[in-house]
Amino acid sequence: MEQKKQSIETLPGVGAATSEKLRNVGYTDLMSIAVASPGDLVDSAGVTAAAAKKIIATARSSLEMGFESGTDLLKRREKVEKITTGNKSFDELLGGGFETGAIVEAFGEFGSGKTQIGHILSVNVQLLEKEKKPIAVYIDTENTFRPERIQQLAKGAKLDPDKILKSIKVARAFNSDHQMLLAEKIEDLIKKQGMNVKLIVVDSLIAHFRAEFIGRGTLAERQQKLNKHMHVLLKLADKYNLCVFVTNQVMAKPDVFFGDPTQAIGGHIVAHASTFRLYLRKGKKGSRVAKLVDSPNLPEGECGFYVEESGLKDI
Ligand code: GTP
Ligand code: MG
Repeated sequence: MEQKKQSIETLPGVGAATSEKLRNVGYTDLMSIAVASPGDLVDSAGVTAAAAKKIIATARSSLEMGFESGTDLLKRREKVEKITTGNKSFDELLGGGFETGAIVEAFGEFGSGKTQIGHILSVNVQLLEKEKKPIAVYIDTENTFRPERIQQLAKGAKLDPDKILKSIKVARAFNSDHQMLLAEKIEDLIKKQGMNVKLIVVDSLIAHFRAEFIGRGTLAERQQKLNKHMHVLLKLADKYNLCVFVTNQVMAKPDVFFGDPTQAIGGHIVAHASTFRLYLRKGKKGSRVAKLVDSPNLPEGECGFYVEESGLKDI
């Protein structure tokens, strides 16, 4: 959706200092402010509640708070493409594959298959029909990207391993700030270098944040930064009709006696920004189980598969 370019400094009471604070936590345009709550702005920019209300009201009235017709939306939906997992039941769970224009979050314990899925998507994004070569961008925070594994999976998908390796741009992120900066730089690859980026993998989304912000007092700051990061990714997904795949970890919930005693890190910030959420766990006989826990248009459900050398195999 094209918005009239109007900077946040045009809002009442938003001078240089306030605008810097707002930008730092991801409020970079009128739309992001228009959809914020007064409490969000009070926390992040240190303005009074009354000022926050006025800022938000002005942002709202100066935007055409775009109503699109159902027909226009359907047209947008027709542009959505689906990246196959190479596994029929997994694809079916997701209504045909990993959607472009969306963020898909996978959370699960160590070894549950999150990184493997990131690798498989990086290979299979090449199967999208394109005049221009699709590019996968892989932000690797845990040093677990393996080109050798890409070669195996490319062979498994009957694709040329060397061509596939060339079409994946990998960046190692050394801390959360670096990770956020890398995500912001992806737009340069698209705009300045003309790359047809169709997939962004952030593996792991959360590890650096989790390690750097320890203790209760730092939680608000961590969540603000995560919010900003997710916002950047969401914008890329939306603007360039590309798929974002992020991996998340789980923590033990000591107070749960029935059902699954784990929950995703990152709280509602990550959950809300994600369009689809997958919970991965280890199944019987070395299999893996993927459960769709959140989706705008698909039923909850789950499927099982095996991670094998050539790809994800049916049970
Ligand atoms: P963390 O990053 O530690 O949280 O785990 P993860 O969810 O990213 O797990 P990952 O995707 O790394 O899954 C690892 C599992 O995939 C291993 O336990 C292996 O069972 C399996 N795996 C990885 N590579 C191969 C392979 O080449 N062949 C086979 N058969 N299995 C593989
Ligand atoms: Mg991993």
